Amino acid sequence: MAKQKKSELKTIKIFDTTLRDGEQSPGASMNIEEKLRIAKHLQKLNVDVIEAGFPIASEGDFEAVKKVAQTIKGPEIAGLCRSGFKDIDRGWEALQYAGEKGRIHTFIATSDIHMKYKLKMTPSQVLDAAVKAVKRAKSYTPNVEFSCEDAVRTDLKFLGEVVGAVIDAGATTVNIPDTVGYTIPFEYFNIITYLKENVANIDNAVISVHCHNDLGLSVANSIAAVQAGAGQVECTINGIGERAGNCSLEEFVMTLKTRGDILPFKTNVVTEQLTPASRLLTTVTGIVVQPNKAIVGANAFAHEAGIHQHGVLMEKSTYEIMTPESVGLKTNVLVLGKHSGRHAFKKRLEELGYELSDEMLNKAFERFKALADLKKEVYDEDLDAIVTDEELLRAE
Ligand code: KIV
Ligand code: ZN
Repeated sequence: MAKQKKSELKTIKIFDTTLRDGEQSPGASMNIEEKLRIAKHLQKLNVDVIEAGFPIASEGDFEAVKKVAQTIKGPEIAGLCRSGFKDIDRGWEALQYAGEKGRIHTFIATSDIHMKYKLKMTPSQVLDAAVKAVKRAKSYTPNVEFSCEDAVRTDLKFLGEVVGAVIDAGATTVNIPDTVGYTIPFEYFNIITYLKENVANIDNAVISVHCHNDLGLSVANSIAAVQAGAGQVECTINGIGERAGNCSLEEFVMTLKTRGDILPFKTNVVTEQLTPASRLLTTVTGIVVQPNKAIVGANAFAHEAGIHQHGVLMEKSTYEIMTPESVGLKTNVLVLGKHSGRHAFKKRLEELGYELSDEMLNKAFERFKALADLKKEVYDEDLDAIVTDEELLRAE
């Protein structure tokens, strides 16, 4: 399919919440220096908004948000606050150092189940608290985001009422989170469409989406939401976050970049920084990425099967839908194992400096196959041993 012109693509804002929702991932808590290190990398990635933490949650988180707000230039800096005034006042105390780039992100749950069991509040009390929270935040900064927690399980009519009321109160971004990772793309598309069609002042705010990954659908749901008109996507590096995590930043961004033929959207992210960002997060948190993780997993650009290896040696696009360079890798990897073919074997030997006659190559390849049946992966040292084996040399 023909690619759309870059100028025709709508820019989707990337709101990175690695330092807030990502940090809520078990074992991912970060100190001030660690948060600052990640924030500096998010600046290099050129995300639009960095949610640096939850200032009232602890002294340490307050200081971390303050430090990020003081240091980082470029992206907006957000801090999460419940809808109480104490939270919002404390939030701005930390965020004020970002000046006009400071964003107060306040929220309250709107689903029946959360209002009844968690908040013990009626819908009209929740509506009132939401409006008051936005007005309080607005007294500090024009840049206010409001989230309807558990929006996906909220009665649609009530959701529309809350969204309309907080926009009237001054919210410039309204977030419609799938807090429990429950929705599916078709349903989420319809929720965003309903808001676009039924909330009169909806165009006065950016619609944001925030998807959790409990059913493994967070990226697909975020894509469906932007197709329905959302303008901001909340996500994290490596998809870390509460429970099964959040929408993975690298997967969402590379989907838009790779499928520009069918998705008329782009982001401001410098995609060559994706792999370095992923690795830095692993270094800082100790949380490793599964090898088959899309985009940043160790196997994302590795080929083992002989047919695939032959294909990419002829033309990379046979089995690669994006280039390794575009996500910050130097090259793809041809892994030598029992599924590998003669082409990859010969190429690797040449890279190691071995030029073998056809007869010797055949013999070496036979030995390689026998060894590969015994091992998960054949390494360069194994190849050295095969081609320098005296018996094989005698056969020459
Ligand atoms: O998942 C969620 O609903 C959240 C909100 C606080 C935005 O993290
Ligand atoms: Zn969340």
